[in-house]
Amino acid sequence: MNMGFLPLFFFCLIAFSNAEISSKIGINYGLLGNNLPSPSRSIKLIKHMKAGLVKLYQPVPEILKALGKTNLEVAVMVPNELISNISSNQTLADEWVKTNILPFYRKTKIRTLFIGNEILSAYGDQNKKTWFDLVPTMRRIRYSLKTHNLRNIKVGTTCAMDVLQSSFPPSNGTFRSDIAIPVIKPMLQFLNKTKSFFFIDSYPFFAWSQNYPQISLDYALFRGRTKYTDPVSNLTYTNLLDQMLDSVIFAMTKLGFGDVRLAISETGWPNAGDIDQFGANIYNAATYNRNLVRKMTAKPAIGTPARPGVVIPTTIFALFNENQKDGAGTERHWGQFYPNETAVYQIDLSGETPDHEYQALPPPTNNEPYKGKIWCVVVKGANVTALGGAVKYACSQSNRTCDAIAPTGNCYEPVSIVSHASYAFDSYWVQFRSSGGTCYFSGLATQTTKDPSHGSCKFPSVTLSV
Ligand SMILES: *[C@@H]1O[C@H](CO)[C@@H](O)[C@H](O)[C@H]1NC(C)=O
Ligand SMILES: *[C@@H]1O[C@H](CO)[C@@H](O)[C@H](O)[C@H]1NC(C)=O
Ligand SMILES: *[C@@H]1O[C@H](CO)[C@@H](O)[C@H](O)[C@H]1NC(C)=O
Ligand SMILES: *[C@@H]1O[C@H](CO)[C@@H](O)[C@H](O)[C@H]1NC(C)=O
Ligand SMILES: *[C@@H]1O[C@H](CO)[C@@H](O)[C@H](O)[C@H]1NC(C)=O
Ligand SMILES: *[C@@H]1O[C@H](CO)[C@@H](O)[C@H](O)[C@H]1NC(C)=O
Ligand SMILES: *[C@@H]1O[C@H](CO)[C@@H](O)[C@H](O)[C@H]1NC(C)=O
Ligand SMILES: *[C@@H]1O[C@H](CO)[C@@H](O)[C@H](O)[C@H]1NC(C)=O
Repeated sequence: MNMGFLPLFFFCLIAFSNAEISSKIGINYGLLGNNLPSPSRSIKLIKHMKAGLVKLYQPVPEILKALGKTNLEVAVMVPNELISNISSNQTLADEWVKTNILPFYRKTKIRTLFIGNEILSAYGDQNKKTWFDLVPTMRRIRYSLKTHNLRNIKVGTTCAMDVLQSSFPPSNGTFRSDIAIPVIKPMLQFLNKTKSFFFIDSYPFFAWSQNYPQISLDYALFRGRTKYTDPVSNLTYTNLLDQMLDSVIFAMTKLGFGDVRLAISETGWPNAGDIDQFGANIYNAATYNRNLVRKMTAKPAIGTPARPGVVIPTTIFALFNENQKDGAGTERHWGQFYPNETAVYQIDLSGETPDHEYQALPPPTNNEPYKGKIWCVVVKGANVTALGGAVKYACSQSNRTCDAIAPTGNCYEPVSIVSHASYAFDSYWVQFRSSGGTCYFSGLATQTTKDPSHGSCKFPSVTLSV
């Protein structure tokens, strides 16, 4: 430790009284699945895991009511779509609080209210307007809470790591220039004044896989064999999450708000993914989340190198694997539970279960990137009635995509909807993968390493090599 930072550490230790901050781990209860258990069954699972808090993405009355029968703390969210209207209308803010919070507040321990979800990440002109409506809405909602005498609810918003324009080394952490002064600074002022938190969604999984192989898997999974010393701050890091969190602290410090408290609104590790993704498996997911829980529930608190000893309230993503999230395969595999209520792996969010009491895990099989060819085809047992719409979409994205399945094309035979759909999915995916196209089609498509080409019909492929 160097003298230059001692005064800051000292100040932090005094400024952050840990007593009032819960080190109990929360769980994000996402609902983007068409096969999820009922609220009451879901809450049983949450209690089984010994979570201390539940975070919701919408104020669902049935769930808020059911949570009133528990001792769980609850975080709810004002949906992104409402932010702009509420920002200019106090009546709307009051009505929202009256409808969504007031009826449940007496029984349900609502303690956090998020204004939107990662809205500072949404690009496009439409969304940029919302950025500037964020802090006014935070103020209006807080005012409504006060009006209704709801005094112990913190108001905040969740931010993704892309609110930073640089995060490495951690001391170089800086907010994006398009939001730093007009949005983040007034937000930090609000959070500081109201003793709320800066809530960050932080995923070492993405930072690790995007920087493969420079960052080691051990470093991302808290297995602490590697260390990194920030050449400017001289702080030494033993895991990737600390490094990411401290980059936020340094960014806040640069704006003059180095003592706003930090909380993690989402973190986690996917338990499965597509063939062209790697490191997403049950073994790594269990390792990450168990080590995370151990770190965040340790007494006395561990904190991060820039803020040692400080509790960081942490909420894991997510309760269930959610089959209606689109994007790459990992998106649908963040859960602690399958929709059939079976645990993906054992986990005790209280941090009290020692590692040796957990059953052995299946060994990881995809910790290195796959090398070779991949195709995208119709998944076995797909709903044939639904294929037509998906094919129409795939083929409408460019003129070339479906040439081969036209009557004059090489892949017209056999004339079958499944065979044509496989070609259309594959052709679409190979063409658009680099610009974000995925091989999913609402669950109708899947990646394969087996060449579906037949006769003169050649399926294009994606070739991976690292
Ligand atoms: C916002 O307000 C406008 C004008 O009153 C209304 O048309 C629109 O539906 C509102 N948006 C939402 C999401 O409620
Ligand atoms: C504010 O919202 C209320 C309730 O929806 C509505 O009646 C009123 O017209 C709005 N005021 C303005 C200025 O848009
Ligand atoms: C710090 O971040 C800036 C971008 O904001 C980048 O250009 C620079 O290379 C970073 N410094 C180091 C040492 O990586
Ligand atoms: C943050 O809040 C504290 C306590 O309310 C106050 O003393 C301090 O001046 C605030 N910091 C800034 C940068 O406004
Ligand atoms: C880090 O260490 C170097 C070399 O010992 C020293 O010059 C520098 O001032 C230190 N930086 C801080 C922020 O303490
Ligand atoms: C629940 O679903 C998972 C994943 O599909 C499966 O592996 C497991 O066998 C199922 N458990 C039960 C009890 O059906
Ligand atoms: C199959 O897809 C069609 C069209 O999308 C839909 O109406 C139908 O409900 C689906 N059937 C099943 C069993 O999911
Ligand atoms: C497809 O071809 C037609 C006619 O040649 C053209 O007008 C259209 O813009 C093309 N569409 C796409 C998506 O390339």
